[in-house]
Parts: sequence; structure tokens; C-alpha cells
Amino acid sequence: MNPFQSLNRFNTNARKWDLDRGPFDEDFLPFSVADSDYKSPKPIIDALRERVLHGAFGYNYIDISYQQAVMNWFSRHYHFEVKSDEVFQSHGVVAALYLAVKGLTKKQDKVVIQTPVYPRFFDVVYDNHRTLLINKLKQNKGHYEMDFIGLEDTFKQGAKLFILCNPHNPVGRVWTEQELDQVVDLCKRYDVTLVSDEIHADIILGNHTFTSMGHYLDRYEKIMICTSPNKTFNIAGLHLANIIIRNPYMRELIHHELRVSHSCTPNLFATLACEVAYTACDDWVIKQNKHIEKNYRLLKLFFQKRVPKLVITALEGTYLAWINIACLNKDSTLVTKELLDYGIGLSDGNKFDPDSKDYVRMNLACSKAQLEAGLERFYQYILDQTQA
Ligand SMILES: Cc1ncc(COP(=O)(O)O)c(C=O)c1O
Repeated sequence: MNPFQSLNRFNTNARKWDLDRGPFDEDFLPFSVADSDYKSPKPIIDALRERVLHGAFGYNYIDISYQQAVMNWFSRHYHFEVKSDEVFQSHGVVAALYLAVKGLTKKQDKVVIQTPVYPRFFDVVYDNHRTLLINKLKQNKGHYEMDFIGLEDTFKQGAKLFILCNPHNPVGRVWTEQELDQVVDLCKRYDVTLVSDEIHADIILGNHTFTSMGHYLDRYEKIMICTSPNKTFNIAGLHLANIIIRNPYMRELIHHELRVSHSCTPNLFATLACEVAYTACDDWVIKQNKHIEKNYRLLKLFFQKRVPKLVITALEGTYLAWINIACLNKDSTLVTKELLDYGIGLSDGNKFDPDSKDYVRMNLACSKAQLEAGLERFYQYILDQTQA
């Protein structure tokens, strides 16, 4: 059976289904928030069901079988080894980024991000009263690259921390080993702490290879890695991230932040789901990547045939397509608002970077049928624009 079948999430507290809807009711098709519109793998659902039926939900702890499952996942999938005291948990990757900025920098310190990027990267800097330095990614015909000269410039301005997004949401890059070598060399040269958000690490397309910052832990001592099963297995609502830090001093700073923010052991269901995901779902991950790849091809072919002027950014990793809509001559905030009247929800490029008003982001983690229906609605909107 195809595990990636349509799932109507209306009225289940799914943000993008219940809150992002315009005038539409159940017929609305959201492609915005980065979670999946099909079920989590069956072993996860079965394990959660069994735990619910057990009926007691008291205080829990992280046991060795959980730690082992996580360390084995890193070894099997990302090809690096860690010790159990180098891995600990937070209530999600965004929570981990807040801990990083708070614990590893001081007020007004300079923090670098590369745009366009997941909007919460801006929030973690501003909310902690740090100074934001932006290094813009370079774009050429639908392919993005890091601007290393720009990055070095921000480091020369005294940056203390750099938040890397690998794979990068929304531009879909899976940074190569050569690129990451350069990043680490620069961080080392300018003594900049490197925080790597690797939440999209398992969603890798074609023959691209994901390289984790875990490979660099012995080369540079100021690295913090944030990983999570949230995207891969559609369990973001359970709220869990696994953080890796080798440096004992940095680890103590983050542990302190965890204590003062009362971020105790993660939810019982979250750790159970993660352990099962990391021990019983390897096949599912392979199948999902093939499914996302097919949806991406479908999207590309659809627009190649019908609206060739629309540029689809090359998608190497993540399930998020970054689409250039400059040919519509309309700001993405207006486009995404008007699209609601056509029963389709996309993410507004402006939210990822004030200069991305020509972009929308479309989530491909849905059934083929949902994607086809969404594309028809998007196309109808484009036709109405060009005929207006
Ligand atoms: C790059 C990136 N980091 C973090 C998150 C959210 O992580 P979490 O739900 O674990 O806080 C997202 C969600 O879209 C993301 O794209």
C-alpha cells in the first residue's frame, strides 16, 4: 500500500489546515507550514497506541535504549560517532536555537544568518536582543550558493555565532563537503561559534549527499548541532530535538540554559516516537525520499509545460520547493493572500527575507493527488492574472 496517501487534517489542530485557511472550508489545500499531509510511519503509530492503552503517563526519563537508538542513527545515516553524554534533548530545534543564542552569546553580540532562510532564524536573534548580521546567499538561474566573501566580511565585523541551515530551508541546498570545509575554516579563523540546524538532514533527493557538522567535531571545538526526527517522520507536534555538543564547556552553558528555562525531559510520546523512528523506519525514509522526488518532478514538469517563465529552484534536499513568481509582477504577500480565494495556501517569500518578494514556497510532503489538485488551482490563478 502507498503510505503517502491524502490525509484530510481539517479540524485536527493542524495549523496550516485550520488557521491558514481563507474563505474555504474543508476543500482548502494548504502547502505552507513544513509538516507532512500523510500519516507517520506505522511502527510509530503502533507504539504510541500501545503506550496510550497502557494508561499511565507519569514522569519519564531518557534511558539508554533511547540514547543508543539516537547514536546509532547518527552513525548509520550521517556517518559519525558520538558518546552518550554529548547528546541531549530540547523541546524542538527552534527551542535549541534559542538556547544556543542565549547560552553562547551575550546581549548585543553579533549573530550571522544567511538569507533567505526559515523565519525563526530572525526571531532567535531579535528576541534575545542580539545584533543580526545577514549574509545573503547568491542565486544564479535557480541555484543558490554561499557568498564566502560576504560571510568572511560578517565575521570580520566581530560576529560571535553563525547559524547554518543544512539542508537549507527554503532554497533546498544540501551543502557539499567542500562548502562546509570552507565554513568551518572561516569559523575557526575568526573564532565564531557554529550552530548547525540539521532538521532536514534525512530528506535528500537525487544523488546529493548530506554532510553533517558531526564530521567536524574533532576539527573545531565550537560546534553545536541540532537534529530532530520532527520533519522526517511528521512528529513536529510532539516537540523534540537531539542536540550534539562535544565541547564540555559549551555543553555546560547549554545545560544551564535548559535548567533555567525549566526545559525538563521531553514528552514521553516524543522520545518513544523518536526511538521507534530511529530503529524501525529506515525503509520508510527511503520511500519518502522517492515520493518527494516524484512530487518535485511533477511540479517541475507541470510548470515547464504550462508556465515556463516560472523558475523552480533546484531542490537537493528538504520537501520545500522555492518558486520564483517574478513573471506575475506581483508581491508574494499579495499573491499568497489572493491564492487563498482559489483554495490553496503557499508560504510568502517575504517572510524568509525582505528581498524575496518574488518567491513563494510550496510544501511537497503531500499525496500526489493533493499536489495535482493544488497545482491546478495555482495555474488557474496564474491564468486569471495574465488574462486580467
Ligand atoms: C530549518 C528549520 N529549523 C527548525 C524548524 C522547526 O523545528 P522544530 O519544530 O523542531 O522547533 C523548521 C521548521 O520548518 C525548519 O525548517
